[in-house]
Amino acid sequence: MDIPQLPFNRRAAAINRSIEEATNTALRVWDTVLGRTGFGGRAAHYDDVHYEFIGGPSDVLRKKHYDKSLRLLWKAEPVLPWASFRDASDVERQAHERAIFDLADKNMTGEEREARTRIQSEEFRALLDRSYTPEQKRAVVSVLAAIGHGEAYAWLVSASLMNEVKSTGARAALTMQIVEEAKHFVVMRELVQAFGVPVPRQSAWEYLMLERTLKAKGLDRFFGMNVLVETIALSIFGLLSTHPGLEVLRLFHLDESRHTALPANYFKEFPMAERDAMSRRRQLTRMSMALPALPLVMYLEPELAVLGIDAFDFAGSVMRKTFHLSVRSGFLDQRLAKRQSEAFNRLLNLYCKATRPGHQFKDFMSADTTQGEKERAVERDIYGAAA
Ligand SMILES: [Fe+2]
Ligand SMILES: [Fe+2]
Repeated sequence: MDIPQLPFNRRAAAINRSIEEATNTALRVWDTVLGRTGFGGRAAHYDDVHYEFIGGPSDVLRKKHYDKSLRLLWKAEPVLPWASFRDASDVERQAHERAIFDLADKNMTGEEREARTRIQSEEFRALLDRSYTPEQKRAVVSVLAAIGHGEAYAWLVSASLMNEVKSTGARAALTMQIVEEAKHFVVMRELVQAFGVPVPRQSAWEYLMLERTLKAKGLDRFFGMNVLVETIALSIFGLLSTHPGLEVLRLFHLDESRHTALPANYFKEFPMAERDAMSRRRQLTRMSMALPALPLVMYLEPELAVLGIDAFDFAGSVMRKTFHLSVRSGFLDQRLAKRQSEAFNRLLNLYCKATRPGHQFKDFMSADTTQGEKERAVERDIYGAAA
C-alpha cells in the first residue's frame, strides 16, 4: 500500500518516549509499593504487559461458564411474548414464530403485533385467573418476590466480585452472570407484576441475608450468593416451574444451576488460601450467613402451604444442597457440615413439635421439593447424590 509519510521531529519524539518511560516506571513502582504495604496501589487486577487479567487465561472456566452461558442465553421475548421485552433478534423471533404461529402471523404490521401482545398479555392474565385462586396468586407472588429481591442483590454481588476473581476466564464467566442476573431481575419483575396482586417488600430475613452477602469479605460473597442464595432461588424455581404460566422459571433454573457451580469450578483453578478455607472462624462466619434462612422459611410457611409445599421439606431440601455445594467448593469441611446439618434438622423438628400437633420427628434434610424431571436432572449434575 502506498501511504505518503509525514515528516516529524525525531528528537522531540525521542524525548517524549523517555519521559513516558520514566513516568511509567515511577507509576508502576509507586503502585507496587502501595499495593505491597496495603495502602492501595493499582485498583484493576489487570496485567497489561501480558494482555491478560491477573491469573491468566483460565480457558476451562471461560468455556464452562461464558461460552455455555452464551450458547444457552435465552431471550424473554419469544418465551413471554406478552411482556414488554423486545430482546430477540429477527432471526430468533422468526424461528420462534415459525414454530408457534401460522404463516399469516409473520406478515403482521407493527400495530397488529402490538395488538397481539396486548391480547397475549390479557390472555396470560386470564390464564393466571383461571389457574389460581386469589389466595394462591398472593402466595406465588410472595414466594417469587422473595427471589425477585434476591435477583437485585445477585446482580449487585456478581458485579462487585469482578475485581475479586483472577483470570480472563473467570471474569468472562462472571460477566455472563451479571448479564443473566440483570435479565432475571427485569423479567421476574414483569412476571410477578402480571399476577396483579400487591408485591411484598423484602422480609427482614431476606434483608439480613442479602445485605450480609453483599458486605461479606472477598470471595465469601461467592458463598453467600452463588452457594446459598442461588441454591434457594434454584430450589424455588424447581418448585414452581411446573405451575401454569410459570414455565419460564425453567430457564431461570438452568441459569442458576450454572451460577451455583461457579465457585467450585473457580476454586479448582484458584484454590482458596488454606487459612480462609480451613479457619473455623471463617467457616462459622459463613454459616452464620445462612442463619436468616431459618426464620425466612418459618415466615414463608403459610404461603408455601397454600401452594401445597411443606416449608420444612423445602428448607431441608435447600440446606442439604447448600451443605453439599459448600463442602465441594471448600467453604466448609465435611465434619462441620454434618454437624450443622443435624443441628438444622433438630431445630426444624423442635419448631414443628411446638407448632404442629402430633408432629413426629422427621428427617427434613432428606426431602426433595424439586418437581420437574428436567430440573431434577439438572440438579443431579450440580449436587450429585445430594439431589
Ligand atoms: Fe438469578
Ligand atoms: Fe444467579
